[in-house]
Amino acid sequence: MGKTAGKFGVNDPCWCGSGRKYKRCHLSSDQVGTAAIGAPRAAQATIERRAPIRPGIVSPRRAVPEGIARPEYADTGRPEESQEFCYVRSREEIARLRRACRAAREVLELTKREVAAGVRTDALDAIAHEACIARGGYPSPLNYMGYPKSICTSVNEVICHGIPDSRPLEDGDIVNIDVTVYLDGMHGDVSETVLVGNVAPEHRKLVDVTRECLALGISRVRPGAPLSDIGGAIERHATSFGFSVVREFVGHGIGERFHMGPQVPHYFDREITTKLRSGMVFTLEPMINEGTWRHVLWDDRWTAVTADLGRSAQFEHTLVVTDDGVEVLTLAAANGTDAAQ
Ligand code: MF3
Ligand code: CO
Ligand code: CO
Repeated sequence: MGKTAGKFGVNDPCWCGSGRKYKRCHLSSDQVGTAAIGAPRAAQATIERRAPIRPGIVSPRRAVPEGIARPEYADTGRPEESQEFCYVRSREEIARLRRACRAAREVLELTKREVAAGVRTDALDAIAHEACIARGGYPSPLNYMGYPKSICTSVNEVICHGIPDSRPLEDGDIVNIDVTVYLDGMHGDVSETVLVGNVAPEHRKLVDVTRECLALGISRVRPGAPLSDIGGAIERHATSFGFSVVREFVGHGIGERFHMGPQVPHYFDREITTKLRSGMVFTLEPMINEGTWRHVLWDDRWTAVTADLGRSAQFEHTLVVTDDGVEVLTLAAANGTDAAQ
């Protein structure tokens, strides 16, 4: 903790890469003990922030053995457009998706076990990378649009796409671990937010509510239901606790491509008239924030942090709409792996 303004002149560009002057960007939120924007007056004196997350050192790119099938962007960094695929999947495609999703779940479980204060997020990346390969899978994030690592690790105010680096986790942090595995020609995508040691009750509340948001979203999935019901249910729950729903990053169709249609917002969008159909496969991955839903992108072009440095949590599943409801493809218990919390 501590004030970090000494490193930057207030008129210098902000460390976050927004291009704005530091005094107009993160200066006030960097000052330990200042309140979250919009916090009630009574709370202002009691909110204490730890130091913001800063970029660490990113280790060299990890190699994937030759025998492992690679997605189309593995060498170029450029994913192909996905229009040629139908959103409604065959039984054979769903069987392959199930295998990719099971592998992703197993990798997440192994990686979660290593989370502790003092462990670097780069060490989590190494474990997940090896676990992917051990299952014959390719870690989907690696070189996806140039992304440098095999998983995403998003700590505290990082909303998503945090790049594993040399920063050791600290007691009281929360960290989202997002694992995607390419196996059998399909991607499977899953993430959870994990507590590091003793997390303050208000931050634990954020994590619990975010887990509930994902469950509520899933409960709306059945053939014929409006896709917008999902976001409606998530948004109602999050806002009833005073939290906000991230709007810039949404759930997505998934299969041969890492990200494909349909887009699935986690807030209510009246413009969306899509009805769910049996065989559709997509992710739900609500990102819920303590303060503002707005984000700032670091100059690494990946790391998205909350604009007010309030914390953000996320849980993600990949699922398929079935004839009578939903099958969660990345569920721990259904796949016979260790039960997730
Ligand atoms: N796994 C993330 C998602 O849920 C996407 C990560 S893209 C990456 O959609 F390039 F950052 F890996
Ligand atoms: Co996803
Ligand atoms: Co993901």
